Amino acid sequence: MDEQAAKRKVALAALEFIGHCGVIGVGTGTTVACFIEALSGLKHRLDGAVASSDDTARRLGEIGIRVLDLNAVGPLAVYVDGADESTRHGQLVKGGGGALTREKIIAAASKRFVCMIHRAKLVDVLGDFGLPIEVIPMARSHVARETRKRGGDPVWRKDYITDNGNYILDVRGLDIVDPSALETELNQIAGVVTVGLFAHRRADTLLVGGESGVETITIT
Ligand code: 5RP
Repeated sequence: MDEQAAKRKVALAALEFIGHCGVIGVGTGTTVACFIEALSGLKHRLDGAVASSDDTARRLGEIGIRVLDLNAVGPLAVYVDGADESTRHGQLVKGGGGALTREKIIAAASKRFVCMIHRAKLVDVLGDFGLPIEVIPMARSHVARETRKRGGDPVWRKDYITDNGNYILDVRGLDIVDPSALETELNQIAGVVTVGLFAHRRADTLLVGGESGVETITIT
C-alpha cells in the first residue's frame, strides 16, 4: 500500500470518532487533508469545525464546513489531527507543518484527541524527527542558544512564518527520554511560544495505519 493510500485509510477510520458531535477540532497536514476529504460526505452531521491553521480553514471552507472560532464554541468533544512521531503512550512530536501552537490549543480544549499516524511514525523514543519549536522572532537566537545548552542542534526554518507571525526552530539531537519533563523545561525559555512535544496533553486514541490495516490504540 502506498503512503497516500495508508493516509486515506487511517482518515476513514477517524471518521468513526466524530459521532454526531456538533463541532469538532481539525488539525493540519497531509493526513488531515485526507480526513477533510473523507469528511465531506458526513458534513451534514456537523455544525462546524475549529481549524488549527489557515490551510485547514480553507480546506474545510472548500467542502462547505463552517469554520468556527474556538472562543465561540467552548470545549470540543473531539479533535482529529496527525503527528510526526508518536510513542505507544500517545506522546507526540508535532509541528512538521508549522501549526503546532493552534494544534496544542485545540487539543487542550478537546475531550478526546484522536491522532492518525503511519506505522513508520510509531517510535519507542521521540526525537529522530527533530523537535519543532515556535518562537517569537526576536527570541530566535536566544532560544537557539538555550537548546544548544541542552545538547540540541537548532535549525531556523527559513522563509517560513507561522499563522501567528512567528518563526520555527527545528531542533535535533535533544534527549527526549522524559517527554513531559522536557516539554515543561523548554516551555520556560523566554520567547518560546510552543514546543512541539505533546506529552502533557497527549493523544487519547492513536490510529496507526500501515500495510496490515489500521490499528487502534486507546491510551488509558
Ligand atoms: C502540523 C503537524 C502535522 O500533524 C504533522 O506534521 C503530520 O503531518 P502529515 O500528516 O502531513 O505527515 O503537526 O503542524
